Amino acid sequence: MHGVILSHLKQWVGERFGAETWDLLLTRAGLEGRLYAPIKLYPDEDLDALVKTASDMTGLSSDEILVDFGAWVIPPLINMYRAIIPSHWGTVDFLLNVEDHIHEKVVKMKNPDARPPKVRVAEIEDDLLQLDYTSHRNMCALAIGCAQGVAGYYGDRLDVEEQRTLPSGSQRVILRVQRGVGQAAAGAA
Ligand code: HEM
Repeated sequence: MHGVILSHLKQWVGERFGAETWDLLLTRAGLEGRLYAPIKLYPDEDLDALVKTASDMTGLSSDEILVDFGAWVIPPLINMYRAIIPSHWGTVDFLLNVEDHIHEKVVKMKNPDARPPKVRVAEIEDDLLQLDYTSHRNMCALAIGCAQGVAGYYGDRLDVEEQRTLPSGSQRVILRVQRGVGQAAAGAA
């Protein structure tokens, strides 16, 4: 897992539960003293252990943690990669392009060994999106959180209408875009 995600997880933990919680979380997860540089790759097991331990410590489920973290992490990621995100994009354009434009180009070009998930998004009706998530990491909740973070960034809201596992093992999520009901992040178009 890319260090940019793990280093942001540290910030999220600090913001939600207090700065001192991170060291405790690392220790309880068996990762005492671990440092995450935003340009390196780390074992997937680290994120698994951190999410599971955070769940034990907070009483939140792993999925609740992943959804909340996903929504939280998107504005800082958009700000980091602002140069390659067209300014005319909104929620739907962003999500339709997340696979080819963001994960494949940005992430893999810079870190050829990164293994981002496959997040294929199609607009099946106006403002109704179908998101197919495939990854060896099985973190569909993170994908849902990230998608909701994109909507929040652009001042919209995204509600999950349906979620199921396809015969291929991928997760299919149907998401409804509610335009203009969120509060846009500063700087969003
Ligand atoms: C500016 C926007 C984004 C950037 C820069 C970004 C970048 C990244 C990076 C660097 C990783 C780690 C990949 C690896 O270590 O192999 C990652 C993972 C992930 N991203 Fe994104 N991402 C963005 C938006 C999104 C969006 C909108 C979604 C969902 C709709 C999404 C879903 C995920 C998921 C679920 C993972 C976890 C890894 C997995 O499930 O295999 N990301 N992303």
